[in-house]
Amino acid sequence: MIIAIDGPAAAGKSTSAKLLAERLNFLYLDTGAMYRCIALSVLEHKIDIYDELSLKDFISSFKLELKTVEGSPDFLVNGSSVSKKIRTTSISKKVSEISAIPAIREYMVSLQRSFAKNSNCVVEGRDIGTVVFPEAEIKFFIIASVEVRAQRRKLELQNMGEKISLKKLRQDIKARDKYDSERSHSPLKKAINAIQIDTTKMNINEQVNHMISHVNLKKIGKNNK
Ligand code: DC
Repeated sequence: MIIAIDGPAAAGKSTSAKLLAERLNFLYLDTGAMYRCIALSVLEHKIDIYDELSLKDFISSFKLELKTVEGSPDFLVNGSSVSKKIRTTSISKKVSEISAIPAIREYMVSLQRSFAKNSNCVVEGRDIGTVVFPEAEIKFFIIASVEVRAQRRKLELQNMGEKISLKKLRQDIKARDKYDSERSHSPLKKAINAIQIDTTKMNINEQVNHMISHVNLKKIGKNNK
């Protein structure tokens, strides 16, 4: 079974997707982290993403692996763990532009399908229910107000030792929403059959319980067929 979770930045997708996967004993695939990994590598190698040939060369030498370390997913780029490095604000700022490049998306979508192949998986991103797994059994679309999303991001960054004002975070989030929803290649958009959940006034337990209730309903429906 594939459970697709899409929605804008910092709406609560990652935390709820991870907990949902743990509770269901499913694999958890964070596709935003995958785009962050390739963005990090693009920046480190100073690749011109608008130069088709050098981008092609770069993609053919880029190796991304997903491992589980002490119950948490860990991404390795060309053999080195990058899970911490990909969360900095400098990556958050560049990742939308880099992830909008069609050759990068095509490569990532094929990797995402291979990572989730033959397993029960909670897959989280922007285009999972619409493009990557349009046939997913359950699709959630998670939203929250910009204010609440900025506050959540601030806490997350504080825990990593980064200080940034709420005003700046609100601006960054709005800019990323605009970029992610207006790009021409697989933009952020709710799948017609997705269940929308507004997490503005929900805590994480309420979010996950709400999602589990939908999963259980789906399972009951399947068993009654
Ligand atoms: O979920 P996140 O903030 O870690 O995602 C980082 C960026 O990756 C986000 O700005 C848009 C992009 N992304 C995407 O284009 N498609 C996905 N399936 C997941 C993320």
